Amino acid sequence: MQILSSIPDLRAALKTRSRIVFVPTMGNLHAGHISLMQQARDHGDTVVASIFVNRLQFGPNDDFDKYPRTFEGDCEKLSAAGVDLLFAPTETDLYPEPQEYVVEPPAIQNILDGEFRPGHFRGVATVVLKLFNIVQPHAAVFGKKDYQQLMVIRNMTRQLALPIEIIGGETVRAEDGLALSSRNGYLSEGERAEAPRLYRQLNAIRSAIKNGETDTAKLEKAAISALTAAGWKTDYVAVRQQSDLAVPKNVDAPLVVLAASRLGSTRLIDNIEI
Ligand code: PAF
Repeated sequence: MQILSSIPDLRAALKTRSRIVFVPTMGNLHAGHISLMQQARDHGDTVVASIFVNRLQFGPNDDFDKYPRTFEGDCEKLSAAGVDLLFAPTETDLYPEPQEYVVEPPAIQNILDGEFRPGHFRGVATVVLKLFNIVQPHAAVFGKKDYQQLMVIRNMTRQLALPIEIIGGETVRAEDGLALSSRNGYLSEGERAEAPRLYRQLNAIRSAIKNGETDTAKLEKAAISALTAAGWKTDYVAVRQQSDLAVPKNVDAPLVVLAASRLGSTRLIDNIEI
């Protein structure tokens, strides 16, 4: 696996490559990321990953400074997964001057996670568009674990007519149901044992809707109460339409249940489609 940090070097290395599939990451890779790399391999000839902890998508009280950076271990995992090229720019490589031109997503950036992390999706869309311009992939893979992020990127790609196929990768879970996430590493032993409750609550909502419950607000409230009783501090539990993340007009449309909740100081997000 070739590892490059400068934009001109990367462009030169990719010049003769065919059908490039790109998987952007912020590093601290786990089995969820590796499954995205495998999916990328199935969709093209050249798999390019990136590792860059993007300051633009972190708020002032977010975990930018303590975000886990495990570069050497990540390189071993990517190499073992058959990734051809890793782009790992420094902040100066990617942002040699203050990034004043940005992608401002529409109203979707202010709901759900965007309500609690103002500016987050602007930072994500900006870095992803910049990475797309640098790598110029034919396709790119993003995990469904960040469901709203995937939708922002899909919409941006479509509306800006970028010639890139966006592929959604399924969430990988631990045996007890907890969605794999770099932030799980922040959990204490006790919190880690408690953490699968979030997924159980999402499943309870899915089962209730499948069994005919139509009052989604009641289900959201019940899940928040159950989490609160177990010591969680919940930002949202929301049943939404898969198509646009709007509140559903009826429960027969394809739905997704999304949640963000804090266990101690760790904010976990998860979702399941119905
Ligand atoms: O999902 C992530 O890891 C990040 O948001 C991304 C897409 C790499 C952009 O920084």
